[in-house]
Amino acid sequence: MAFSATAQRAALAQGFATSIPSADQPSKASFAAFSGFRPVALKKAALDLHSAKPARVSMQAVATKASAFESITQAPPDPILGVSEAFKADTSSDKLNLGVGAYRTEDIKPYVLDVVKKAEKLMLENGENKEYLPIEGLADFNKATVALLLGSDNKAVKDGRVATIQSLSGTGSLRLGAAFLARFYPGRTVFLSNPTWGNHKNIFADAGVEWKEYRYFNPATIGLDFEGMMADIEAAPNGSVIVLHGCAHNPTGIDPTPEQWSKIADLIEKKNHLPFFDVAYQGFASGSLDEDAASVRLFVERGFELLVAQSYSKNLGLYAERIGALNAVLPTADLATKVKSQLKRLARALYSNPPVHGARIVAYVVGNNDIFDEWKQEMAGMAGRIQAVRATLVEELKKRDTKGRDWSFITSQIGMFSFTGLKPAQVENMTKKWHVYMTKDGRISLAGLNKARAGYLADAMIDSFDNF
Ligand SMILES: Cc1ncc(COP(=O)(O)O)c(C=O)c1O
Repeated sequence: MAFSATAQRAALAQGFATSIPSADQPSKASFAAFSGFRPVALKKAALDLHSAKPARVSMQAVATKASAFESITQAPPDPILGVSEAFKADTSSDKLNLGVGAYRTEDIKPYVLDVVKKAEKLMLENGENKEYLPIEGLADFNKATVALLLGSDNKAVKDGRVATIQSLSGTGSLRLGAAFLARFYPGRTVFLSNPTWGNHKNIFADAGVEWKEYRYFNPATIGLDFEGMMADIEAAPNGSVIVLHGCAHNPTGIDPTPEQWSKIADLIEKKNHLPFFDVAYQGFASGSLDEDAASVRLFVERGFELLVAQSYSKNLGLYAERIGALNAVLPTADLATKVKSQLKRLARALYSNPPVHGARIVAYVVGNNDIFDEWKQEMAGMAGRIQAVRATLVEELKKRDTKGRDWSFITSQIGMFSFTGLKPAQVENMTKKWHVYMTKDGRISLAGLNKARAGYLADAMIDSFDNF
């Protein structure tokens, strides 16, 4: 599927795009109405401010005018966040929210990591202030984040070839990267995996960057469609941008093997494509920070020029702190300096200075050896809990399944999600009859499940697969 960037933006504004509804923008018509109307209303308001007359007259004038935004249509709820809203409104005690990718404890409660609490305590003790950060972010954070991604001895970092800028979590870092591509790599198409995290399309379309898809998932095997992926990357015009999930692919939970990554790198090199990695789950796939960064490190070692967006929402549970980074790896230090200066310029116009709290948490956790080791253990614990829940779900499904289906895909998929293969009508049954909330594409977040509820989920899945 391919749309021009203009058509994608127009669809977004009207809420047509199925997976990307939240970026509604006023249409040209409403801007015209806005510019035609505002001077009159504002002049009246200004006059009232400077006269002794009561404001009643101008209020009436405003009330009787047609709105500048008359032509705006209702945007549909976000396909992921809308699920949480529907879940909240459900009064059933059976309800389960497997929609959003947020880690829960075995009691299905939100979790603040112990290392985060320790870092916050240290921050208080040290009396950190709330001054503006530089546009590029907190220096200690930037140092820590690139070391975490590429390894502390990475040659590209030592050579000064990596431009790192703190940004607003994964989404903001991707959006900054998209703005950078729109300005400095114009006319290129971004290729996204099919399926992908719903917001990818939104982010690139909103930045005015055209996107298309490459095959990724094979429903017949519930596995990677490696041949399809390679064929589509080969067919993409030379010099395209290829978005790759660094690990724990969302929504499928299926990653290429190391051998496949190596072949993907060969092809991308041959085609002179630009890889743009999205690393939102480092440490969450395998439980190891290093293993989960292997794909990106392979490309950097091979000398690629590339972009990487990082997020600390999941691996440090800092969802609401909006902490992440955009890294650009370049052939020379001189170019890295120039690219960084332009990224700062873009960030200045988009949001100016990034937030400090999450950046300090990351810097404290990574910069303190004891806390860093503790984090690795906590992360392995979170990844382990999800793996254990996967195993329990498979057992419960097998107990109930009279058709002898193969459920092993649930344990071979990694990260937070399982792509179940449930079709939209089956998903509807999961929600309407069983109060199990999940995205329409059949994805469930196993981070929102515990062993005690695995049997209930298995009942719901078997009923939905068998009867719809
Ligand atoms: C693949 C992928 N990229 C990026 C993100 C960005 O998340 P955040 O903006 O919360 O860091 C997510 C979150 O679900 C994701 O799944």
